[in-house]
Amino acid sequence: MGLLAFVATASAEPSFYTARVAPIFDRHCTACHGAEKQKGKLRLDAFEHVLRGAESGAVVKPDDVKGSELFRRITLKKDDDEVMPSDGKPLLAPEEIKIIELWIAAGASATKPLADFPTAPVPKAARAAAAALAPDWRPRSAEIAAIAKATGLKLVPRSQVATDGLVVRTASAPARCDDAALAKLAPIAPLIVEAELARTKVTDAGLKTLAQLPNLRYLDLTRTAVTSEGLGALGALRHLEALNLTETAVDGPGLAKVKAWPALKRVWSYGSKADAAAAAP
Ligand code: HEC
Repeated sequence: MGLLAFVATASAEPSFYTARVAPIFDRHCTACHGAEKQKGKLRLDAFEHVLRGAESGAVVKPDDVKGSELFRRITLKKDDDEVMPSDGKPLLAPEEIKIIELWIAAGASATKPLADFPTAPVPKAARAAAAALAPDWRPRSAEIAAIAKATGLKLVPRSQVATDGLVVRTASAPARCDDAALAKLAPIAPLIVEAELARTKVTDAGLKTLAQLPNLRYLDLTRTAVTSEGLGALGALRHLEALNLTETAVDGPGLAKVKAWPALKRVWSYGSKADAAAAAP
């Protein structure tokens, strides 16, 4: 068989890893385990990284589903400290877990063809559209770049799926982010799904801006000056799932209000006033 024939065959039949497994990692894991961040010294953005494993060693053991740390992590309960994805991000769907299970059980191969997995669940094409977290950001990339430049904020795609929205990050200079910088996000408000604002200068005034981000799901306000009063504005966010209030002045009554919001699944409040009051004898 000539080289050309080989190439043709290879592209006609994608591997199970490329077609089914890698998209799951891209969508749920590479924001923390990719080129930019490597939590636990683990990368999941290319096959060789996946098999190389983490700080603690291999996370995928070919043919050994139960012995694979990666599988253990994705099948923990949602409130387990070790569950992946971490930080209250949505867990994998049962079909996605099944796909990873079948892949490991069949030797965790990079090349085994899709056709070798006749019983694997097929993610419905419609699912992606139905599960869009935000409008496609790509047509607005020039505007996004201009806003990033004007504010000093990093505006990065949440995953390789263009309708998964953008994450607001402050990189290494959180103190440069204040209420005025957040206000400049208004033109791209629907695109933002996560805001990592720990240790920024954001105050209650900035929360009014954040309340205008209709698709915001995840918000980290660790060690900011926000108060219970200001948080009330965020009650309007229909998709907010996870809120980090570690080491803020948010008190018990404020926290109780927050916990009653319907979409909210996880709240962190260690070292806040609410936490101190709860710990007092
Ligand atoms: C929001 C960030 C975040 C996301 C998203 C995330 N992880 Fe993690 N992951 C971490 C952090 C932080 C650690 C290190 C702390 C720990 O081990 O729990 C970690 C550790 C791990 C470990 C253990 C590494 C070791 O040292 O053995 C595995 C395995 C893992 N993640 C798999 C995944 C998988 C699979 C996904 C996607 C389904 C995922 N993670 C998504 C943050 C994340």
